[in-house]
Amino acid sequence: MIDNLWSREVNNIPLPPLVKGFPILGSSLELAKDNLGFFVKQYHEVGAIFRVRALNRQFTVIAGTEANQFVNQVGTEFLSVQDFWQDFCKELGTDNLLVSLDGDRHLQQRRFLQPSYSRNSIIHAFPETIQLIVELTANLRSGQRVQVLPFFQQIICEQLGMLLADCSPSHYRGDLVRFLQTALNVTVVKQLPSFLLWLPSYQRSRKRVLELAKLAIKKNRMSQTKRQKPNLIDELLTDCQQPHPLLSESEMIAAAVGPYLAGLDTVANTCSFMLYALLKSPEIMAKVIQEVDGLFQDGIPNAEGLRGLSALHGAAMETLRMYPVATAIQRYAIADFAFKGFRVDAGTHVIIATTVPHFLPQYFPNPHTFDIDRFHPPRNEHKQNGAFAPFGAGAHLCLGNGLAEVQIMLTMATLLHRFEFSLESPNYTIQPISNPTLSPSNRFYVRVQPRSN
Ligand code: HEM
Repeated sequence: MIDNLWSREVNNIPLPPLVKGFPILGSSLELAKDNLGFFVKQYHEVGAIFRVRALNRQFTVIAGTEANQFVNQVGTEFLSVQDFWQDFCKELGTDNLLVSLDGDRHLQQRRFLQPSYSRNSIIHAFPETIQLIVELTANLRSGQRVQVLPFFQQIICEQLGMLLADCSPSHYRGDLVRFLQTALNVTVVKQLPSFLLWLPSYQRSRKRVLELAKLAIKKNRMSQTKRQKPNLIDELLTDCQQPHPLLSESEMIAAAVGPYLAGLDTVANTCSFMLYALLKSPEIMAKVIQEVDGLFQDGIPNAEGLRGLSALHGAAMETLRMYPVATAIQRYAIADFAFKGFRVDAGTHVIIATTVPHFLPQYFPNPHTFDIDRFHPPRNEHKQNGAFAPFGAGAHLCLGNGLAEVQIMLTMATLLHRFEFSLESPNYTIQPISNPTLSPSNRFYVRVQPRSN
C-alpha cells in the first residue's frame, strides 16, 4: 500500500461518485469532444476516482499522479489488458499482440522485442534517416501548401519501415491509415459502429496490411546482407527457427506490422502538434532554428549533438505534455481493490487518465502555456513522481518511447533546417480531435519555403 492510496480490503468501502450526465447519453458528448478536458474537470470537481456513464457503458476513471503511481507499482496485480485488444488482434489474424498480453507471456515477449524497438535502432542510422527525409521532401516547391498530418505520416512511416523492417511501406500507406483508424475506433475505443469492419474498402486495406507484413518478412528472409544490428524482422525470423519459438506464425506476422502502425497516429501527430506550437511561438521557433542550424554546420549530426539541443528537446517534451496523443489507457479490474477510499470491483472497466497531471498547476505551473524550460534543471517538472506520462504507465509503458523521442527530434531538426514553414493564417487555431488518438484536424495546412543553407 502506498500511504493509504490503495488497499486489497474492500469491505464497507463505497463505490466512487458517479458523474452527473444527460439522460441516456450520460457524459458521451463531453467525452467525444475532449476526453482529457473532461477528465481534468472531473478531477478538480470530484476527485482522483469517479464513475462515468456514456450511453450503455459505464466505467471507473482513476486520475492524477496517484493513479500513475498505483499503475506503476501494482497495476499488474489488479488490472488486465487482454479483453480490450482481443477484437483488434482478430483483425490482424492473431490471438495476441504484445499490447494484449498480461503476465509472464507479456514479460517474455517484451524482453524479446525490446532491443528492436530501442533508441539504438535510430541512433546508429542518423545518415540514412536524414537522407530519407531529404528524398521524401525533395519535390516540395516554394510556397507549396502542405496538409500537415499526412506529410508527417509519410515521413514517419517510411522511417520506421526502413529502421525496423528494411522494407518501404510506400504503396500501402493509405491502407495502413484506413486500417488503423477504423480498427482502433471500432474494436478498442468502440466509438464507431462495427458494420464498418465489413465495408469492402476496409476489408481491402486490412488484406493489404497483412500483405505488407508478409512482404517485409519475405524480403528480409531472402536478403543476403548481414546487418551489424539485426532489425525487428531479423529477430522474428531467428525466433521462428527455434525449436520452441516464442511467437506463433500468426503472432509473428502481426508483430511484423508493428513498425508500420506504431508511429502513424503517435509520432506523426506529435510532430504535427510540435510544428503548430512552434509556429504559434515565434521566439521559441527562432531559438530552435538557431540550434538546429548549428547542429548541421559540421555535416551529418550524431546522437550526442542532437541530445545537446535544449530548446529542441524542451519543445518536443512540451509538445508531448500539452498535446498527449495517448490521453489515457484502458484496463479491466481482475481483482477487487480500493483506491483513495473508494471500491473498484473485479470486472470493472477502468480508465487510467494518465495525462491528467500534465494540466495540474501544482506540477506544471501555467499548464496551458507552452514553456520549453520546464524540462531542464533546476525545474525538471516532468521528474515529479507520476506527473509526466505521455507514453503511458506500468507494465505496458510504450516500448518505443526512446526511439520516438529521438525520431521526433531528428525529424523536426532536419525539416526546420531545410524549410521555413508558415501558418496559412496567423490566427489559425488548431482543433485537436480524438481519432482515437489526439490528432490535428485535417484542416491544418502550412506553406513551405526551402531555406538557403
Ligand atoms: C509520440 C509517440 C508515441 C506515444 C505517445 C506512444 C504511446 C504509447 C502508449 C500510451 C502505450 C501504452 C498502451 C497501453 O498501456 O495500453 C504504448 C505502447 C506501445 N508502444 Fe508506443 N507510443 C509512441 C510511439 C511508439 C513508437 C514509435 C513505437 C515503435 C516503433 C511504439 C511501440 C509501442 C509498443 C510496442 C507498445 C506496447 C508495449 C507493451 O504492451 O508492452 N510506440 N505506446
